[in-house]
Amino acid sequence: MIPETYAIRPGRESDLGALADVERSASVTYFEALGGPRQTADVLPAAVVEASHAAGLLWVAADRRDVPVGFLAAEAINDFLFVKEVSVAREHQRAGLGRRLIQAAEDHARAAPYGAIALTTDRFIPFNGPFYERIGFREVRAEQAPLSLRTLLAQEIASGFEGKRRILMLKPVAALQDSTMPLYASRRQTGDRA
Ligand SMILES: CC(C)(COP(=O)(O)OP(=O)(O)OC[C@H]1O[C@@H](n2cnc3c(N)ncnc32)[C@H](O)[C@@H]1OP(=O)(O)O)[C@@H](O)C(=O)NCCC(=O)NCCS
Repeated sequence: MIPETYAIRPGRESDLGALADVERSASVTYFEALGGPRQTADVLPAAVVEASHAAGLLWVAADRRDVPVGFLAAEAINDFLFVKEVSVAREHQRAGLGRRLIQAAEDHARAAPYGAIALTTDRFIPFNGPFYERIGFREVRAEQAPLSLRTLLAQEIASGFEGKRRILMLKPVAALQDSTMPLYASRRQTGDRA
């Protein structure tokens, strides 16, 4: 059998129709880890994925036939590149694709430049918070977070995510990060810190 090879590349319009199934497949692993029922999660609305694509903030992991088996969709929120979703289809997990997708977003954030890459995730699931921490993300407590990100976290919790488990994490990417600045502060600070 030929070993599978993958490419990480910008998402294309022709990929968009395949991404909901990737996300549904990935969510089985998420719910298993959460200890919840094997249910189908809501997927990102198509318009949200399209907006990421239109903004050039969609990356895809494609198999050797160029079929999408994973994706990362992000949006720009002031000075943050916010990862809205990263999903890898179940049969392609644990092959390093999640790590490579985050790296692609991070490389973009550094080049753009954004001040930081941000995401919300589960505190305990091994391939969520603990993994992000291993690659340099840090939790920012809601009360210390910029208003835009704090609001996103609050909306997720209001929509049913467990408040004790859902966390906001940031990784500064600005090349000349001043170590005396708060984690979320950056060169393009927009006053979004109320
Ligand atoms: C999170 C996700 C995208 C990672 O994709 P992946 O291609 O399997 O990731 P990788 O192979 O790059 O592994 C990433 C890390 O998670 C760990 N990991 C992956 N799956 C794991 C599992 N089932 N149990 C424990 N650790 C796991 C890996 O060991 C790796 O850590 P390391 O590089 O320090 O060893 C994928 O598991 C997924 O789609 N999960 C469901 C949706 C989800 O949770 N999305 C993230 C929301 S914030």
